[in-house]
Amino acid sequence: MFARKSFKNLFILALVTTVLSTLITFKMADVQHTLRYVLVNALDLNRNNCTSVTNCLFSTGEEDYGVFTPDGNISCIETMYVRCAEPATFEPSVYTTYNVAMLSMKRWMKGYIFFNFSTCVYSRCRFQDSRIDQSTHMVVMEISDIDDQYQAISRWPHQLYVATSWEPPPHLNSEIKLDRNYFWNSRFNLTSSYRTDSDIFVPYGMLRFKPIPVDSRPNYFEIANRKTNWVAWFVSNCNTSSKRHLYVQKMKKIIHVDIYGRCGRRCPDTYPQCSESRFSQYRYYLSFENNFCKDYITEKFFKVFRSGMHIIPVVRGAFDYDKYMPEMTYVDTGKFRDAIELAKFLKRLGENPVAYARYLERKSMYEYMNDSSLESLGCQACMYLHTHTLQSKIEDLKKVIVDNQCYAPTDLI
Ligand SMILES: *[C@@H]1O[C@H](CO)[C@@H](O)[C@H](O)[C@H]1NC(C)=O
Ligand SMILES: *[C@@H]1O[C@H](CO)[C@@H](O)[C@H](O)[C@H]1NC(C)=O
Ligand SMILES: *[C@@H]1O[C@H](CO)[C@@H](O)[C@H](O)[C@H]1NC(C)=O
Ligand SMILES: *[C@@H]1O[C@H](CO)[C@@H](O)[C@H](O)[C@H]1NC(C)=O
Ligand SMILES: *[C@@H]1O[C@H](CO)[C@@H](O)[C@H](O)[C@H]1NC(C)=O
Ligand SMILES: *[C@@H]1O[C@H](CO)[C@@H](O)[C@H](O)[C@H]1NC(C)=O
Repeated sequence: MFARKSFKNLFILALVTTVLSTLITFKMADVQHTLRYVLVNALDLNRNNCTSVTNCLFSTGEEDYGVFTPDGNISCIETMYVRCAEPATFEPSVYTTYNVAMLSMKRWMKGYIFFNFSTCVYSRCRFQDSRIDQSTHMVVMEISDIDDQYQAISRWPHQLYVATSWEPPPHLNSEIKLDRNYFWNSRFNLTSSYRTDSDIFVPYGMLRFKPIPVDSRPNYFEIANRKTNWVAWFVSNCNTSSKRHLYVQKMKKIIHVDIYGRCGRRCPDTYPQCSESRFSQYRYYLSFENNFCKDYITEKFFKVFRSGMHIIPVVRGAFDYDKYMPEMTYVDTGKFRDAIELAKFLKRLGENPVAYARYLERKSMYEYMNDSSLESLGCQACMYLHTHTLQSKIEDLKKVIVDNQCYAPTDLI
């Protein structure tokens, strides 16, 4: 009797053990599969000619699964948007002071410190507001809605007229956009905009490399583990030419997206904005541009780099993110066949706290330069005056700033 029972127990035990170990084996295999898959960053997808995430599996070289060790090897690559070190102060050898004026200034610009030269690398410039006379060296004009009615003022041949705007071509109201023979079309010498090939480059934002010493880094693994939500999108313009809302609709089939702002739910306490703490529970923040135009990247991207904001931006636009932004600090929708593939990747990455923490760590090494007076229009203009003597003339402004700049997204079927 006793022997039989004991045999039966043994049998059950053996059965249970087999089932359990099979389960564990499956589970482990599954987990490792996921790990190998997600540690591939978007750049590698590109380098390896993958057409989709699911057909690409790479060995990661990361054997210590589940153990997050800080990466002490994060180094900085300087680009037009990334400062690896503070710029050296510069003493110009020629002590000329240049006079700069600005016309058709937008109301929102008045409060800004655009033309306070005191903190610039080249600071020997004086702002004349809109008073132009023979002493003026440079005249900056905001062109986004000037028309033929805009008064032609007297000008002197030595003066440089700068056409500036922060708007992408579809948002320009001016007649430049429509008419090649428009008066102002042939009146400028230089361009100034967010475009990397403009004469005076003024980006919406820049990043500064600020590596945190390994032993004072927060525990990114724990931060990753505490995340309770998936994707946040703050949006106030619901219907844009980039059709980003359609892209998000597709993503939603795979991953949870909470929409805030005018096109979604309100943040009642802080309306119309949402507090940063509301976003901290999310893994991803959608930094989707409203237009696909060359080099067009706005503060939607940069603001996610405010210190202490542990959320990974998902980017979408006609900007060359790989070329200019630090790798593994963002996920680019342009690397995926469509919204479904992207959403699957976000899911896999988010389900793996080690891999996701690696992204958080990388991103924390860069900080939004909110004090970018160093990079302001005034500073850049002053630098230009001190470092260039060329005569120049734009024959056809429309061709330079409007034509062939934008396109419709191609991943929406
Ligand atoms: C990717 O494709 C290009 C051109 O087809 C080829 O030259 C390159 O070797 C490929 N790279 C890999 C990693 O297969
Ligand atoms: C840092 O780089 C060294 C040398 O390339 C390498 O041996 C080490 O594993 C790297 N550490 C991390 C955390 O990646
Ligand atoms: C310009 O900036 C400097 C340094 O931030 C500040 O002390 C000064 O008051 C500013 N000048 C104007 C006119 O705002
Ligand atoms: C969105 O914009 C397009 C083109 O600008 C317009 O045809 C369409 O009616 C708009 N849709 C909504 C819902 O406003
Ligand atoms: C820039 O960020 C720093 C640190 O986050 C903050 O103390 C400062 O007030 C910010 N400056 C501006 C102009 O927003
Ligand atoms: C600036 O452009 C105007 C109009 O095209 C031209 O007449 C003038 O010579 C240019 N000035 C300089 C300094 O290049």
